[in-house]
Amino acid sequence: MDNRPIGFFDSGLGGLTCVPPLMKKLPDERIIYFGDTARTPYGSKATTTIKRFSTEIADFLVESGAKMIVIACNTVSATCVDDLRERFPHIPILGIIEPAARTIAERCTEKNRIGIIGTKVTIASKAYESCIRRYSGGLNIFETSCPAFVPLIEEGIIDNDIMDLTIKYYMNDFVRNNRLDTLVLGCTHYPLISKNIERIYPELHIINPSDIMADTIAQILGERGMLAKDPEAGNVFYASDLSENFMNMIDSIFRGEGDDAKVKFLNFDMEMEKNAYEF
Ligand code: DGL
Repeated sequence: MDNRPIGFFDSGLGGLTCVPPLMKKLPDERIIYFGDTARTPYGSKATTTIKRFSTEIADFLVESGAKMIVIACNTVSATCVDDLRERFPHIPILGIIEPAARTIAERCTEKNRIGIIGTKVTIASKAYESCIRRYSGGLNIFETSCPAFVPLIEEGIIDNDIMDLTIKYYMNDFVRNNRLDTLVLGCTHYPLISKNIERIYPELHIINPSDIMADTIAQILGERGMLAKDPEAGNVFYASDLSENFMNMIDSIFRGEGDDAKVKFLNFDMEMEKNAYEF
């Protein structure tokens, strides 16, 4: 048994999409989350910059007592998992791409035409394709980046024509020319626009990696005897800029689900614990 929290991080609020499936699967676990809202997006930045930011955040989570690090960001998972594992050899570190790739390989056949959308860095890394091919060599995989999605989502521009037009701009040719039947949301921000995508392309079967991680987290903690039982502390969410959208997202995740865990916001700008906000 291990009642320390699981550390999650992302460049912003996208990684929060991994939290509800985890809470459903492992309700006794507590979370410490860091969203780097002041420096988002990561997906068009140089790999060296992404590595520097990720190391700072992982150091912070480990210093804060995280028993495991979950990289709730495809961009960081595509570029930094090995570095972080090397830096923290005694802490389990899970990237979002590997469990997703295994599931894609299990669910899809050579008849499927699988599209993967993600940030520029994720798509350029070919991390999805190479990871999927380790499990299943013959699948038809097509990839494209959609760099404007994350800034719009961080701004809360979701339920309107601007987002729909942006989706069509990036995806119309991609979906039609490749005759896709399956779409992988290869960025943790994209589940927040999955309703738009489903409405515009009802023919696509959508695979959401944010829903898939919880099983692998449960397996890793279970195998190591590190599952929590009745922990006293609540969940804590840090953001490097306390944006209204980040707060609204947490509000929408925890309110309405009857979750009585204590949730705190802390604006973390490397000076720690400013603007504590609690409900
Ligand atoms: N949500 C992240 C991902 O899964 C990062 C997006 C970004 O910051 O560009 O890739």
